[in-house]
Amino acid sequence: MKLIIINGPNLNLLGKRETAIYGNETFKDYFLKLQFKYTEIELEYFQSNIEGELIDKIQAVGFDYDGIILNAAAYTHTSVAIGDAVKAIETPVVEVHISNTFAREDFRHHSYISPVAKGVILGFGMQSYDLAIQSFLS
Ligand code: DQA
Repeated sequence: MKLIIINGPNLNLLGKRETAIYGNETFKDYFLKLQFKYTEIELEYFQSNIEGELIDKIQAVGFDYDGIILNAAAYTHTSVAIGDAVKAIETPVVEVHISNTFAREDFRHHSYISPVAKGVILGFGMQSYDLAIQSFLS
């Protein structure tokens, strides 16, 4: 089982960005915990602040990997191109958000990814990523 977590813009700042919303943990630390917990899975991580790099990565893995866990961050709400990339590939994508985007500003209520995702997990803090991994195991 080969899964990749793809994080979008500003998620490189987890641990020091708006900690009341996103918590104090860096993604590097959380990712180590996930790798330790799921030793049977080949788990990769990619982060970019650049829309085109996220699309390149989705295309690069999207015909070979078993699953993509995608937190496109703010691009979720703006990017037709990332939605199209998810639609274009064969690998199932689970959309993830750390915060409950529906409990926040109206502009966060719309996602270009949800209609083309296998499923959506949001609002469980960093645990959202763990729940997304579990969705691929059964
Ligand atoms: C986010 C929610 C988005 O609205 C926001 O732009 C982010 C993070 C989340 O994980 O809660 O950067 O995707």
